[in-house]
Amino acid sequence: MKHIKTLLFAAAAIAAVCCACNSAPEGSDPRVEKLLRKMTLEEKVGQTVLFTSDWSVTGPSMRQGYIDDIRAGRCGNIFNAYTAGYTRKLQEIAVNETRLGIPLLFGYDVIHGFRTIFPINLGMACTWDPEAIERSAQTAAREAAAAGLHWTYSPMCDITVEPRWGRISEGSGEDPYLGSAIAAAMTRGYQGTDLAADNTLLACVKHYAAYGAPQAGRDYNTVDMSERWLREFYLPPYKAAVDAGALSVMASFNELDGIPATANAHLMQDILRDEWGFRGFVVTDYTGINEMVCHGYAADEKDAGRLAMNAGIDMDMQSASFFNYMVDLVRSGAVKESTLDEAVRRILNVKAALGLFDDPYKYCSPERETSETLTEANKAEARAVAAQSMVLLKNDGVLPLRKGARTAVIGALAASKDDLLGSWRGAGEVQSVPASIADAIREVTPAVYAEGCKETGEDRSGFGAALAAARGAEQIVLVIGEDCQWTGEAASRTSINIPGVQSELLEKLAATGKPLAVVLLNGRPLDLTAESAAAGALLEAWYPGTMGGYAVADVLFGDVNPSGKLCVTFPRNLGQVPIYHYAKNTGRPYVHPEAKYESRYLDSPNEPLYAFGHGLSYTTFSYSDISLSGSSFSAGGTVEASVTVTNTGDKEGTETVQMYIRDLVGSVTRPVKQLKGFKRVTLAPGESAEVSFCIDPETISFWRADMTWGPEAGDFKLFIGGSSDVVKEASFSYED
Ligand code: BGC
Repeated sequence: MKHIKTLLFAAAAIAAVCCACNSAPEGSDPRVEKLLRKMTLEEKVGQTVLFTSDWSVTGPSMRQGYIDDIRAGRCGNIFNAYTAGYTRKLQEIAVNETRLGIPLLFGYDVIHGFRTIFPINLGMACTWDPEAIERSAQTAAREAAAAGLHWTYSPMCDITVEPRWGRISEGSGEDPYLGSAIAAAMTRGYQGTDLAADNTLLACVKHYAAYGAPQAGRDYNTVDMSERWLREFYLPPYKAAVDAGALSVMASFNELDGIPATANAHLMQDILRDEWGFRGFVVTDYTGINEMVCHGYAADEKDAGRLAMNAGIDMDMQSASFFNYMVDLVRSGAVKESTLDEAVRRILNVKAALGLFDDPYKYCSPERETSETLTEANKAEARAVAAQSMVLLKNDGVLPLRKGARTAVIGALAASKDDLLGSWRGAGEVQSVPASIADAIREVTPAVYAEGCKETGEDRSGFGAALAAARGAEQIVLVIGEDCQWTGEAASRTSINIPGVQSELLEKLAATGKPLAVVLLNGRPLDLTAESAAAGALLEAWYPGTMGGYAVADVLFGDVNPSGKLCVTFPRNLGQVPIYHYAKNTGRPYVHPEAKYESRYLDSPNEPLYAFGHGLSYTTFSYSDISLSGSSFSAGGTVEASVTVTNTGDKEGTETVQMYIRDLVGSVTRPVKQLKGFKRVTLAPGESAEVSFCIDPETISFWRADMTWGPEAGDFKLFIGGSSDVVKEASFSYED
């Protein structure tokens, strides 16, 4: 029975892939089969090799050795090389100087924009707006594809509940439902409806799998979790991207259940290919193959290559293990030639789907590179979505600020253009950033700037000048947070406090009694307990990208009404970590204020400082009670849940209405609240709208005790509201 289910599942997944990406060949491309018949063993291995270009200050340049490898047909894929001119030069070597003329595939980390940089992904996720996210991926693809690129190492689909982990900034936060919607949207945005078009990019689903759950939040650290937790909370966004048509997947650096993902056949074969029907190729993450020696999983780099290829890796990024040893491994029978052939077939079919066999230079376009890059339209889009990504955490009425009022702008980050871009800023350059936050504020209102202090260090020598500026002003904007290089890869922290003496400066500025708004630039949930007590308003601006300075000013002065909602929980302190909204009830939930033997802390409330889904507006919204179309439903049926949302303030605003459910009794225990739907609605002052959600068996399905996916009969709670902690409640039941 289980076997049949798995087969059906796989068939459905293949159908989904075919529909979503009509440019992917049904079977293998005949040109690929013809090539495979002609290729020597060395040439086959060459197609599984991916090397980086060298990077110099003036642009990309290849090591001479790698150019020889391309020429010899021993390196079929390059990353970190771009511009129409440079990629054409390399492509000409592959096409004209190799025996078979197979075009190169050019990859790059286009993570939140290419030249026009959008907010970091964690910020983008706080828009709760998959359409806007899809458009931003499309824009990034247009810019990158014109610069000769074919392939982006995105979307990053790693769910995480770890604020210590620097790479939380690259993902969509803690929730699999929201994360899946975003992963699918990004894939559609990059790949479009025609992968062969010259303005689309091949997406790469990463880092497969569960890279976001490193123990203690330390990058690259061990990951271990139950198969059920993995499937329910970590795998859905990767699968959503595969279902949306992504034709490449990157294996993660971490181990899972004792087996590095780079040699994990359960992940790559059983789940990805057999269950999900994935038909593209799997690439390692950087030197992932060689790292299996350090993991203690492979005796040496040759054996690591054997393990990786036999487990389902098709392409070796940068380890040179396939490059050095695969010919021998095949000759000795340690890897079957048919396994290598299959890897080459997958890679070449993707090259065919990209149109590279029709025109290897179609992506290298100096004209489009100029006309598509950093256009006014791209910048306007980046500015609007940056404003939309910001989350108003607190506001006692300080915001919006008064235009025309003398304003003190304080903090090293207020004057930094570089930090606005965040980490993984692709080919985004600081020279393209038109304004820092301080510059942008100066365009709106008379302003003086004082640094006050740096983001790190103990230097308080600037405090005096900052306080003087504050005393002479009518309102204060303090910009604090983390240096942007404190987030991203290899940027884990053991503290989630605001670094240095920035918070001390905040206390002193607050003591002036002047209206004080704090803008935060950071890439992870921080402990803001002290800052939220001291500041009149807290605006989480993340790293908002090329147009971020203007976008911050747009929100501060009310030209844009903030609408961002947290895609990740903000704890009160590090001791609460991990803290997330889909926690279980436990056998001893904390309900009696004075109880000792209940699941609680002695020195901290259980509740976070800012819950998942939280985010204020300059207007207010009220929610009616929930009305249900019925009190129960059964297989094949649905229940519709509706609320009326009213803008009760005096400004137009956008609210993200969120639906959560709880299955009261299950064959395995269920979360107290789990996000199962959301809708954005824009309302004029006084205007109301009915917002409805359809609840069907899929909404309440989960990995049951027998590890099948489906619903169980019983009673459910339903919650609808503007944040996971402010909701209306109703009940319904499901019958088999
Ligand atoms: C990162 C990947 C990235 C790759 C290529 C690795 O270190 O983990 O996310 O795509 O480098 O730059």
